[in-house]
Amino acid sequence: MSNNPLDRVKQQIHEFLLEFDNPFLHTLCSKLNHGKMLRSRLIFAIAGVNDQSVKLCGIVELIQLASLLHDDVIDEAMSRRSSPSLNALFGNKNSIMLGDALYSKAYFHLLSFPESIARSIAHCVCLLSSGEIRDVFLSESFNPSLSEYILMIKEKTASLIASSAKSSALLIGEESEAYYHYGECLGIAFQIIDDILDITQNEETLGKPAMNDFLEGKTTLPYILLYEALGRDERERLKSMHKTPLEAEQKSWLFEQFTKHKIIEKSFEYARDYAQNAVSKLPKGYSEELDDMIRAMIERSY
Ligand code: FPP
Ligand code: MG
Repeated sequence: MSNNPLDRVKQQIHEFLLEFDNPFLHTLCSKLNHGKMLRSRLIFAIAGVNDQSVKLCGIVELIQLASLLHDDVIDEAMSRRSSPSLNALFGNKNSIMLGDALYSKAYFHLLSFPESIARSIAHCVCLLSSGEIRDVFLSESFNPSLSEYILMIKEKTASLIASSAKSSALLIGEESEAYYHYGECLGIAFQIIDDILDITQNEETLGKPAMNDFLEGKTTLPYILLYEALGRDERERLKSMHKTPLEAEQKSWLFEQFTKHKIIEKSFEYARDYAQNAVSKLPKGYSEELDDMIRAMIERSY
């Protein structure tokens, strides 16, 4: 058996899914891709590797997979992690139902954990659903509000990371709110970096189309900061590009403005501030791996 703890999580997920006596469901599951497994790495960094933490990872990864299946239907995304999305392969109905199956299986196994952990994870799924609804509403028109954006990513992305950290701390009897704070800051920084990479990286690196957020209607941090930096006429020009496929000339105007106003650097500053604040509440002697995760998050290019 492999010594890599992430392989143990994959095996755990596999065992959870084998509990479904349904060959159609297993066909769908064969196309799932586990991605970077950030949440599992975080759980191991806090709680170590043991049967309980592996099981918690399996539960959290099932919720993460379920949320992405639903998200790809909502966003009408045709690719994810360099492969066709499940909705592209099997249609929306199957994606939604598989999402429901994964999420329900996660809840079934969550019941074997102490109530404090079950409550934290259950509450975070409420937040992540709420965050996705915010995202859908905010994407209808150009959103210039930084506070609405931060609130949305706190719920949509950071809540499951924060709750994973808190639940791991509860597993080992540590002060859990400090770990929630760490996870929330890490999650917000993660999403900001994701939003930057959408602009700075190409499709091959991202495993999904580049410059796609604004086309999908998402006014992410770089666009909000650019809006703040522009004059009245230029703001109107930026807003006119929202949710619209861009001509080459419009793209080059946009990149010129990003460069002129140092928008990517400023966006990085936001991510760095959250990242630096993440460890501020942790007890002395916390795992060095938590510093490494923050560093890797800021430096990542995909
Ligand atoms: C990706 O955002 C989506 C999320 C981080 C969470 C989506 C949450 C839901 C659909 C609610 C799920 C509810 C249950 C009950 C499981 P993105 O579209 O900005 O990122 P992307 O570019 O990776 O698609
Ligand atoms: Mg999406």
